Amino acid sequence: MKKATIIYWSGTGNTEMMANAIAEGVKAIGNDAKVVRVEDADKDMVINSELLAFGCPSMGAEVLEEEFMEPFIESLSDVDFSGKKVALFGSYDWGDGEWMRNWVERMKEYGADLVDEEGLIIRLTPDDDGIDDCKALGEQLAKA
Ligand SMILES: Cc1cc2nc3c(=O)[nH]c(=O)nc-3n(C[C@H](O)[C@H](O)[C@H](O)COP(=O)(O)O)c2cc1C
Repeated sequence: MKKATIIYWSGTGNTEMMANAIAEGVKAIGNDAKVVRVEDADKDMVINSELLAFGCPSMGAEVLEEEFMEPFIESLSDVDFSGKKVALFGSYDWGDGEWMRNWVERMKEYGADLVDEEGLIIRLTPDDDGIDDCKALGEQLAKA
């Protein structure tokens, strides 16, 4: 059985809903998933996991949340991502997804093999279709 580690930051719960739905998708095909708030995460969780999903809404002006998520992601710049599969996700509101495009490029520079080259972005609270998209991403990650 494969195990996915899903690390996220969420201020008002939208990205958290996405994280939990991604975990459901991973579990739907018989794998295991651990959902961890970035405040409780550490780098070893990333080093020791082959399947990873990182979630963060668009904050500031089109940046990652700056107190916890930004320093955590920065700390991963020297992680060896070979052999790992990575998914990115997050909620946004008024922007056009710029934060996610930048995040995707950054993770590629880190050597991450992204299962979804665009990252999954959902405007505000995910509706039923959005939840299904999250579950599908979880399945895609687990099958990768
Ligand atoms: C301080 C702050 C800054 C934000 N900046 C952006 C932004 O630059 N672009 C955007 O599309 N949404 C922005 N948003 C909207 C959030 O991304 C949106 O409300 C999202 O659903 C929050 O996700 P969460 O419930 O997981 O915290 C911002 C929200 C806050 C509170």
